[in-house]
Amino acid sequence: MSMDLVTILYLVASVCFIQALKGLSHPTTSIRGNVFGMVGMLIAVLTTAALIVQLAGGALGLGWVLLGLLVGGTAGSVMAQRVEMTKMPELVAFMHSMIGLAAVFIAVAAVAEPWAFSISGHGQPIPGGNRVELALGAFIGAITFTGSVIAFGKLSGKYKFRLFQGRPVQFAGQHWLNLGLGLLAVFFIVGFWHSQSWLDIILVIALGFALGVLLIIPIGGADMPVVVSMLNSYSGWAAAGIGFSLNNAMLIIAGSLVGSSGAILSYIMCKAMNRSFFNVILGGFGGDAATAAAGAQEQRNVKSGSADDAAFVLGNAESVVIVPGYGLAVARAQHAVKELAAKLTEKGIDVKYAIHPVAGRMPGHMNVLLAEAEVPYDQVFEMEDINGEFGQVDVAIILGANDVVNPAAHVKGTAIYGMPILEAYKAKTVIVNKRSMAAGYAGLDNELFYMDKTMMVFGDAKKVVEDMTKAVE
Ligand code: TAP
Repeated sequence: MSMDLVTILYLVASVCFIQALKGLSHPTTSIRGNVFGMVGMLIAVLTTAALIVQLAGGALGLGWVLLGLLVGGTAGSVMAQRVEMTKMPELVAFMHSMIGLAAVFIAVAAVAEPWAFSISGHGQPIPGGNRVELALGAFIGAITFTGSVIAFGKLSGKYKFRLFQGRPVQFAGQHWLNLGLGLLAVFFIVGFWHSQSWLDIILVIALGFALGVLLIIPIGGADMPVVVSMLNSYSGWAAAGIGFSLNNAMLIIAGSLVGSSGAILSYIMCKAMNRSFFNVILGGFGGDAATAAAGAQEQRNVKSGSADDAAFVLGNAESVVIVPGYGLAVARAQHAVKELAAKLTEKGIDVKYAIHPVAGRMPGHMNVLLAEAEVPYDQVFEMEDINGEFGQVDVAIILGANDVVNPAAHVKGTAIYGMPILEAYKAKTVIVNKRSMAAGYAGLDNELFYMDKTMMVFGDAKKVVEDMTKAVE
């Protein structure tokens, strides 16, 4: 296989990856995007395998590569098939940890036998530029690995180990310690560049592992989606760094795509929460407010009704907007909601879904959930497209959502001030389903629940929605 052919195949794979990202930007094109991604990866892997055979002058070592592909591919498919929708962010965190570890292993292998990777001639030292790339790739990979392991633990929330619990771990001088360790890592990277000593690269990797843990432990469990997307970005840059050392254009392009798309996604999420990136990374959001709000709520009265009452109101409406939130995912009520919407539509009622960009706990959470229940895409509207309509809507029904419809976002000084919200409070009647008066993720009380036109229907979303569907005449 000529190098020209390799370059062309890598180029085709890169175009597939770009098309994959484009396709994944909308639910209607997401399947096509996934297919592009898989085809691109297949081309990249096969081309690289063929290249290994050629460089090694035979199928030497290819058996190990195939074994790795088989074990990794099987484990990945089984895990992806079994994972529940609410556990998806954990799976993603786990995958990132593996990418980080792979970057560390490749860097160590390349330092041990650089000639095997065509970085230098047999017995020759690694060129200076490649040393820096390898050390940087290993450092970022190490941070990504341990950081993602901590994120995985925090997201799963089922381990007793303190560092895996959602509550932030904070201590005095934490940020200074991180800064000190970061500077120390730079010192050893320079050392490795200067002398190519094993001690320097081992210390760089060890500092990366330590920093990965220290950077993530002060962040609360609910902020993990932003962190996971940030670690996604890191894993891409680590791969790109290693790609430069290995002189592999595919790794550089794929790594940069992952790195930049992860960074853009983190930015979009922070913007939709009206929080700066540093506010998320430095941790401690909402915790105390949650307790305060919980105490304050006991004093106030709300109007509550049964599922039958809500069904009566819905049945008499001409237009209904459904606002899904995290509670809908927890209750796995997506199929029940689709049934309710279908019944209302049958009665000639105009039904739409309103999606907030950070409703739920991961980007696109509500879109994925509704797509799983095969809700027609033409009924699903993004926040910018539906906000103008709430004023004319007869009923806004909020299912397991809280912060994303909280008018406190318009009140200066509140934790979510400035966060764009779905303006459900403008609807003629509002129905809210949740299990209690407990606060949402930001820990704030929600004025919407106390409005005269609001009816609270308490209970698990699945049960309540099923009961409503039965009761709609
Ligand atoms: P939340 O504000 O967390 O509110 C969810 C509500 O669902 C809670 O008030 C809870 O009240 C209710 N609930 C829980 N289980 C339920 C069940 N089984 N049945 C019925 N209701 C249930 O969620 P949201 O409105 O979707 O807002 C998302 C929040 O997460 C935002 O603050 C956002 O900034 C944050 N966040 C999102 C992301 C992404 S990317 N999506 C990333 C980081 C942070 P009860 O306990 O009383 O039932």
